Amino acid sequence: MRFTREQLEAMAQSVPVWFHSIDFGQGVVTNGLISPSQQADQVQSFRFPDLRGKTVLDINALDGFFSFEAERRGASRVVALDHYMWAMDLARHYHYWVECKERGVVPSAYHTMPYYLPKVMPGKIGFDTAKKALQSDVEPVVGDFMEMDIERLGTSDVVLYFGSLYHMENPLEAMRRVAAVTKDVALIETEAAVFADLPDHALVEFFESNELNGDVSNWWAPNEKALLGLCRAAGFRRVESMVKPPLPRAGETPGVVRYRAVAHAWK
Ligand SMILES: C[S@@+](CC[C@H](N)C(=O)[O-])C[C@H]1O[C@@H](n2cnc3c(N)ncnc32)[C@H](O)[C@@H]1O
Repeated sequence: MRFTREQLEAMAQSVPVWFHSIDFGQGVVTNGLISPSQQADQVQSFRFPDLRGKTVLDINALDGFFSFEAERRGASRVVALDHYMWAMDLARHYHYWVECKERGVVPSAYHTMPYYLPKVMPGKIGFDTAKKALQSDVEPVVGDFMEMDIERLGTSDVVLYFGSLYHMENPLEAMRRVAAVTKDVALIETEAAVFADLPDHALVEFFESNELNGDVSNWWAPNEKALLGLCRAAGFRRVESMVKPPLPRAGETPGVVRYRAVAHAWK
């Protein structure tokens, strides 16, 4: 059955907060916090390998934009895994986060808030709605990647680990777990930093509170050397940077510059 434009529009409107802008077709695009043009830039910079016939695991998929993109690119099976933000009432969460930012106060850890409802999983509504609208075969799995028995996941040819590493309290352990579920290659995208005057050191910036974007769930920003080393130490054989750190602009004072790094890591 093909949905009408009105039905697709109603589905898009039925979700209070979208993180991703997902194209439902017939001119209906969800109103994501990440704009369609930002997502197009991401897709380009992530440099997806040929996914035709491949199995894909999208760790921390949220609304599933990249899971659906993998399916659209011909993956034979796509699993979308998430827990943390699926457990939140995202409208209340964003309202709280914006309010704290405006008032200049540090938010409480989000999983201690009354809107964190793991028994209800209110934040999964975006993924579920998009799956329905796209009539997609992407398989959702509810699980906290850092806590769950990852043997349950088996291994996938291609693993997507986007927008997650800097949220992890234990990044080396996180990358070990990513390596354990990867058969061929993992694509990693993360907040990263350049320490302009120390290019030869593997360094990581630590955020004790909400220094990065007012968000208390951000902990780390590695530089390129630390990110690549972290992947190798976690069990990947070869790692390549797909987005190089920005070069200092002429006349710029050396210091810390942040950017989003992308690396591919092969088993
Ligand atoms: C910025 S979103 C990225 C979503 C998607 N992968 C993307 O790149 O667009 C962060 C993701 O990490 C997950 N996550 C897992 N543990 C987290 C934690 N402790 N703090 C914040 N996010 C966490 C969230 O559920 C969410 O799906």
